[in-house]
Amino acid sequence: MITVRSPGRVNLIGDHTDYTGGLVLPMAIDRATMLVGSPAADRVELTSADQADVARVELDVRHPERLTPQWAKYVGGVVAEMRPAQGFAGHVTTTIPIGAGLSSSAALELAVALALGFEGTPTQLAQMCQRAEQRASGVPCGIMDQLCIAAGQIGHATFIDCRSLEITLVPVPEHLDVVVVFGHSRTLAGSEYATRVAECAAAEAAIGPLRDARLVDTTHIDDWTVRARARHVISENARVLEFCAALATNDRFEAGRLMNDSHASLAADYETSTPRMDALVSELADAPGVWGARMTGGGFGGCAVALCEPGALDHRLGDSAWVVTASNGAHVVAE
Ligand code: GLA
Repeated sequence: MITVRSPGRVNLIGDHTDYTGGLVLPMAIDRATMLVGSPAADRVELTSADQADVARVELDVRHPERLTPQWAKYVGGVVAEMRPAQGFAGHVTTTIPIGAGLSSSAALELAVALALGFEGTPTQLAQMCQRAEQRASGVPCGIMDQLCIAAGQIGHATFIDCRSLEITLVPVPEHLDVVVVFGHSRTLAGSEYATRVAECAAAEAAIGPLRDARLVDTTHIDDWTVRARARHVISENARVLEFCAALATNDRFEAGRLMNDSHASLAADYETSTPRMDALVSELADAPGVWGARMTGGGFGGCAVALCEPGALDHRLGDSAWVVTASNGAHVVAE
């Protein structure tokens, strides 16, 4: 019997920066997908407590994106990229809300890869699962989710330089709550995400790598939309560094301001927020004891994240709002 635990993630700051080699600060959370099962001869066959239909994937799968049910695509993406010699039969359970922007799909991919005996570094695991995700979903996602879930350490957020893929563990201060609040289901996420990736490529064609650019450089971009996208990415990379510095000195006002500014930039310049997410984020940010709040992850819905004094948002907790803590990354629990 093999048991794998693979957590979800919440991004504290640094959204839509990973696919231009920028900076991000996500953390693996204490909500996780568990996969329990045994090696099997010729295919991967998984049941799930949350899915009616079995995911069945042949080891020589060529088109994981065509598999049904929907969740089998992610399993298939891993099998197609990893090409394991042996299959696996098992059962999946999860405490990660599915499709809420907390990387339930990345958690599943890493769980499957580890159950299939993936051998390699956390970075190699993340890169393989990123390709699996891209194949399964058709979305040209970056590496943040998979690398955070591969490398997370209890008590720490993972500062990732998405150009070098270097990871620095950043202690999450004690005496603070990280609260995740579900807003609404994501809309248009796939196609709009790809459009943003293309807009960043257009910005880079004009002014070079966004990672190296300064805000003033954006004035050389003629297209106003592309200019605004670049402004978000350049300013967000700077905010990630400033946020890490604020955490290190426990400067709650500065950390909160940076989160609020990050949300404003995602809403105005990157246009990945929605009126409902804006309303949720303002409500959270304005509540007594809250340092700051922002939408987290890909956007167009999903979840908001807030940092606050312990208990400040307890009145909000329930089926769609949770205090999360920084947990360990994906690993084989028992073999
Ligand atoms: C999704 C993607 C990530 C990242 C975020 C936005 O979660 O999978 O790679 O781009 O959106 O920061």
